[in-house]
Amino acid sequence: MGRIEINHSADFSAERIRQGIAGQWLGRNLIWKETTESTNRDAALLAGEKPVHGTVIVADCQTGGKGRRGRSWTSPAGVNLYFSILMKPEMETDKISTITLVTALAVAEALREKEVDVQIKWPNDIVIHGRKLAGILTELKLLEKKKAYVITGIGINVNQTEFPEDLQENAVSLALETGRNWNRSILLCDILKRLEERYDRFFETGDLSFCLKEYEALLANRGRNVMVMEPSGAYAGVALGIDERGRLLVQREDGTVASVYAGEVSVRGIYGYV
Ligand code: BTN
Repeated sequence: MGRIEINHSADFSAERIRQGIAGQWLGRNLIWKETTESTNRDAALLAGEKPVHGTVIVADCQTGGKGRRGRSWTSPAGVNLYFSILMKPEMETDKISTITLVTALAVAEALREKEVDVQIKWPNDIVIHGRKLAGILTELKLLEKKKAYVITGIGINVNQTEFPEDLQENAVSLALETGRNWNRSILLCDILKRLEERYDRFFETGDLSFCLKEYEALLANRGRNVMVMEPSGAYAGVALGIDERGRLLVQREDGTVASVYAGEVSVRGIYGYV
């Protein structure tokens, strides 16, 4: 593939994004940062000031991007999307974390509308042909009286064409996949619109009943051999789907079905488990 010309930041600015926001509440309060340590960290700090529900913090570059399980998220300037959403749902805190699967579904749907053949690796990695395109880090910031802000941080490899050596095998970007450069402001606004639609339904139901079929249709793990790594040990099985609380249903070799809540799950053929 030839080198892709990237017009680094003309496409991407607070102004462009504000012009494109189409929803009622998500991103109406937009905070733009040229460079920051981590938009999730900024969101956690901001939560103490009780910002409006649906505040979005976007950065062009992160110097300390955070990934799941204490990993880092490579966040070079001028090429990708890094943003965090702050929400204060009227919902019990033990239900809120399911929002991470709703987020993955909405991001995947927005990309599929643009003819990119993404799938979801449970619970919330967005993958293309076995490589990771986007990751989601959901964190809770507890307030008084059992209320909490939920922070969903989303990182999408958009126009990045070179990755550090340790990521080369498992990471992909939209530009590498499609052979063209993407306008990040338009992409972000389209994703926010889809997220708002999905979040509105989730806040009504409090579980995944409204989107179970759609999520499962995009689940890369479904019907595949998976390896579940839990603190008590690892076991193999076949992923059947998810339940309304977002747990992965795994049929073990002895026929019993386990509901996996938080363990690490590797899928044969998708980074990590071969
Ligand atoms: C993962 O490990 O898959 C989750 C990656 C999440 C990265 C995003 S980028 C925007 C937000 N800010 C962060 O520091 N992390 C998330």
